[in-house]
Amino acid sequence: MSSPSDNPLVRFAAFWWAIGVFAAFGLTLLVIRVFTGGSDRPDPLEEAAAAKRYEIRETVAAAQKSAFAYKEVEAGKTVQVPPHDVFAHLGKSLVAEQPVAVAQPEQIVPGSDRQLAAAAAPSSDFGAVDALTPAADAAIDPALLEAGKAQYTAGTCFVCHGMNGEGGPIAPPLAASDWVTGPVSNLIRIQLRGLTGPITVSGKQYNLPAPMSPLAQQSDEQIAAVLTYVRNSFGNKASAVLPEQVKMLRSEVGKPMLTEADMIKP
Ligand code: HEC
Repeated sequence: MSSPSDNPLVRFAAFWWAIGVFAAFGLTLLVIRVFTGGSDRPDPLEEAAAAKRYEIRETVAAAQKSAFAYKEVEAGKTVQVPPHDVFAHLGKSLVAEQPVAVAQPEQIVPGSDRQLAAAAAPSSDFGAVDALTPAADAAIDPALLEAGKAQYTAGTCFVCHGMNGEGGPIAPPLAASDWVTGPVSNLIRIQLRGLTGPITVSGKQYNLPAPMSPLAQQSDEQIAAVLTYVRNSFGNKASAVLPEQVKMLRSEVGKPMLTEADMIKP
């Protein structure tokens, strides 16, 4: 007994049916394409926009060309000669410029002669600085605390130590820190020199992923204010810090980062 698929006539017809369906499908696609306008035909709006772009480019190129002089320095080699007043202007503005490193002498470039000299200079008298610390119960000007709070943000302290001095994965806490309420000279030196290495804060050891960089670009007043603020916020209570105390320790700037061992135990 033979099945219909063995029949050559049935197989022949099936073959041509398949071809037919395929061709009809292709034809339909073609018709759809023709009626929807195809996408190869240039869009007149797009052409106009392109022409406009070329026109603008030509105008700009021509304007640039007329603004600069060109000179043939050797056969076949033409270079652009900027108008002489460009150099005159540049020279004048450079002379008038106050580079940051000059305007703020407390910024010392690492590895420079100045930094090496600073590193070799004898340390200041920390005892004399701490002796100036006002009494812990002396009233503190609320305006100074306000200024300190502003500097806590502007000086970026909050980024690492948290808005409430709570510390975090990259910095130890300032809240309930024995360093914060301890000797003022430590705190000023941390601002001026930075701090690296493991540190024990109120009995807990911290190994932080990165050191605290020096923040010596702050003025004496800013450092005094921010330290007064942290010493009297987040539950801390201690004396104010005076700008004179910061000033006395400016010679610390440029010395290597502090480690815990460099500081007076709180
Ligand atoms: C880039 C992050 C960062 C910034 C910004 C920063 N600190 Fe620190 N601070 C640290 C780290 C890290 C340590 C601990 C360093 C170590 O011992 O390795 C530290 C330590 C301290 C300490 C001593 C330890 C403690 O927890 O009491 C004080 C005080 C301190 N910072 C105050 C400040 C003040 C004030 C500011 C803003 C003017 C400030 N820091 C800005 C990261 C930062």
